[in-house]
Amino acid sequence: MTKDLFSPTKLGSIELKNRFVMAPLTRNRAGEGGVPQPLNATYYEQRASAGLIITEATPISTMAHGYPALPGIYTDAQIAGWKKITDAVHAKGGKIVIQLWHVGRISHPSLLPNGALPVAPSVIKPAGKAFTYQGLVDYVAPRALDASELAGIVADYVHATKSALAAGFDGVEVHAANGYLLDQFLRDGSNKRTDNYGGSFENRARLLLEVTKAVVEVAGADKVGVRLSPVNPFNDMHDSNPQALFNYVADALNPFKLAYLHVVEGGIHGGGIADPFDFDAFRQHFKGPYIANLSYDKQRGNAAIASGHADAIAYGVPFIANPDLVERFQADAPLNEADANTFYGGTEKGYTDYPFLKA
Ligand code: PHB
Repeated sequence: MTKDLFSPTKLGSIELKNRFVMAPLTRNRAGEGGVPQPLNATYYEQRASAGLIITEATPISTMAHGYPALPGIYTDAQIAGWKKITDAVHAKGGKIVIQLWHVGRISHPSLLPNGALPVAPSVIKPAGKAFTYQGLVDYVAPRALDASELAGIVADYVHATKSALAAGFDGVEVHAANGYLLDQFLRDGSNKRTDNYGGSFENRARLLLEVTKAVVEVAGADKVGVRLSPVNPFNDMHDSNPQALFNYVADALNPFKLAYLHVVEGGIHGGGIADPFDFDAFRQHFKGPYIANLSYDKQRGNAAIASGHADAIAYGVPFIANPDLVERFQADAPLNEADANTFYGGTEKGYTDYPFLKA
């Protein structure tokens, strides 16, 4: 039987009716206290024909926030808000996992409790500007986490995972991509530590592996995915030897027998790639299910599945503008164009008002 985007599959214990994955997309439309709103439920419910929805990146603690109006997954009110979303998606026959996020240095004191400094592996101010409630402002130099604080970060992932299960999610995805905290530890452009969490591949991967182990203990490996972005320069990221580093990380994740590995195969926001990278070679290192992401269309998605490179394909921007992307690809129908002006924040405009093929 030939496999394509429309054939069912299983990622760990999560059964997908097709191989379309809605990529995690930051939309900045949560309510007060990081509580998901009915409008957010409508947005996700509209996209439940995807085989799997991965939620927008969701902070695991008050210190994990780095942008305005993000939903959280650490208070009872947030759990109750998310429960309405998982119920709505499940009622439509969809599956949904939550992406667990700590932004690390990609934040600003105005977004953190008591004006705290953002935390990071090392005191390196990223180039670029933070999105705050007061607009764009320069990033600040973060505070380097002491090794003694890392158990507390792992505990925050555990609490968020328990909260996610209470909210009815089918699983969790550990966000270790795109220049946020776990990626900041992985890549040596942002990690200059001289303790057990810096230097060698083993040391730089230590926090990710500790977090993964702890999350797996709570949720079960068959409900846990990890997302990586080996050559994404976004958030001022680079590494001196990404192929060897990420091959090592894939090897080190194998023993967990995760539900999936999810890989951003390039640079997001049109940023190009930091270095050449052989994604096929990297993929050979990971022995479990693989979700490929970035700039796939229908043809390349089907080809990646048929060749065995990927088990499923994550589509981002196409799912913003096309809640019925599965049906549109099936019918070879034209796609709605996404309006980048309404990606981050705002109302239902550019969020839940993109037209379906069939009214
Ligand atoms: C973004 O807000 O641009 C963003 C957020 C999370 C990501 C990537 C990009 O993982």
